[in-house]
Amino acid sequence: MAGAPSPRMREVMEALVRHLHAFAREVKLTEAEYDLGIATLNRIGQATHDSHNEGILFADILGFSTLCCLLNNGNAGATETAAALLGPFWRMHSPRTENGGSILRSPTPGPALFVNCRVLDPTGAPIEGVEMDIWHASPVGYYENQDPQQADMNLRGKFLTDAQGRFSFRSVKPAGYPVPTDGPAGDVLRAQNRHPYRPAHVHFLGYREGFKTLVTQVFVDDDERLDSDAVFGVTEHLVGDYRLHESGTPPAPDVTAPWYTLDYTFVMEPGEAKLPTPPIK
Ligand SMILES: [Fe+2]
Repeated sequence: MAGAPSPRMREVMEALVRHLHAFAREVKLTEAEYDLGIATLNRIGQATHDSHNEGILFADILGFSTLCCLLNNGNAGATETAAALLGPFWRMHSPRTENGGSILRSPTPGPALFVNCRVLDPTGAPIEGVEMDIWHASPVGYYENQDPQQADMNLRGKFLTDAQGRFSFRSVKPAGYPVPTDGPAGDVLRAQNRHPYRPAHVHFLGYREGFKTLVTQVFVDDDERLDSDAVFGVTEHLVGDYRLHESGTPPAPDVTAPWYTLDYTFVMEPGEAKLPTPPIK
């Protein structure tokens, strides 16, 4: 690596090669296993296209995405963080939606969900003007890009926090879902006898100049798989209070019981506003 002009590249690549060689020595990697490893890397690339990102999914099921997230947020894992892995389903350019508006772009049966959130800085002061991007799976467990029944950008939307740092929207309660298992990530899960499910969650991506971009998920607290998320994303901090309402005055005239509400507060830390590379188009 001595010829690489970038000191950081020298550091990263030197360590990568050292650990890769140490790994092969430790397990005494056979030639057949080397072949399988290379074929798997190639298949990860071949399985990736505009609406699917097998590379991110593979990193997710190995816990690598969550490790990188925790290394770079919450004081390198020393303190609680609001951050979580991005996952393979974020799309750029979701529709800007008025506060309080619905992110249903096509009929989507399921219990109504009303989300009210605040975004604060570490001193507890509200942050105005945060672009908060939302995406989540349907009540049957599919993102719109996986599901011909859903309109383009269904259950996706972008909101702007007001002077009190608030944003709110209406949706339907998401379901947990299996990560796609028709590629190398699925092969690994099956070989390990692991289930492919993620507990139900809503994704949030908060962006504003002057603050470290917040990528996170808020999990549904009644999900039975909170302790066995296939991609290791759940922390106690990110389990939301999805409150069931079985009676009372509904929040909108067309809502019938039961419905759910979620109130959640995000903290954004000062830092660099930088959007991730979209995993899919
Ligand atoms: Fe997700």
